[in-house]
Amino acid sequence: RKKVTLGTLRSLYKKGEPITMITAHDFPSAHVADHAGMDMILVGDSLAMVALGMEDTSEVIVEEMLLHCRSVARATKAAFTVGDLPMGSYEIAPQQALETAIRFIKEGRVQGVKLEGGKEMAPTIEKITTAGIPVLGHVGLTPQRQNALGGFRVQGKTSSGAMKVLEDALAVQEAGCFAIVLEAVPAEVASIVTKKLSIPTIGIGAGNGCSGQVLVQVDMMGNFPPGRFLPKFVKKYGDVWSESLRAIETYRDEVKTREYPAPEHTYPIPKEELELFAE
Ligand code: KIV
Ligand code: NA
Repeated sequence: RKKVTLGTLRSLYKKGEPITMITAHDFPSAHVADHAGMDMILVGDSLAMVALGMEDTSEVIVEEMLLHCRSVARATKAAFTVGDLPMGSYEIAPQQALETAIRFIKEGRVQGVKLEGGKEMAPTIEKITTAGIPVLGHVGLTPQRQNALGGFRVQGKTSSGAMKVLEDALAVQEAGCFAIVLEAVPAEVASIVTKKLSIPTIGIGAGNGCSGQVLVQVDMMGNFPPGRFLPKFVKKYGDVWSESLRAIETYRDEVKTREYPAPEHTYPIPKEELELFAE
């Protein structure tokens, strides 16, 4: 498979072929996503929760993101990789954002960065893109701002809310984003926004009218214990947690009963050597 570039993404968009994106947070999760033919891999700051056990994304820091980006980059041969700028690493000034974005390219070894926010982030996006670093926008529900948004709420559910999503999307497009993540907005709104843009939208909880889709890998593959809350938009394509649990429980049982290791799992020694040794 050929390396996916911005040119590849552009031609998928022009053909109207949906762009596929999934998160990865380490070598194995990136390896399988790349093999499965994903167009893009996102090292999302959702790794704060799914890989580091944090309460939300506000806790994860640049150095932690960079460690995960590097491990993902090592496994990714074809997909276009994007790293999420964590909260606090880009909002202060365009200069700060560019410095962080450069670290993601040089140390994280990803090909682009993602940052949350609309109109107010336009100068920042411009600063980063003029340095030759591709920026993926993110509007609608922006989890890093959950405290200001009053929680994880669907955005654009009123005409003025929908207008804000559209204006934010147009502003970050104008600032130079190569694509925009649209999170948790009504499907009809996402469709209209997508039609009004000239760059791809990557939807998550934004319906089927976007130019592509993204999901958090551990969510879509069911790699979590039963009973965990999942947003409405997540489709569970696998049951990895149950399979891991089954395997580890079976291993535990077989160790306890001495069923494992069996003779085929052991190393032989020549009989005469053993006799000498055992004397
Ligand atoms: O952090 C993340 O995984 C994301 C995607 C859900 C878009 O930002
Ligand atoms: Na994120």
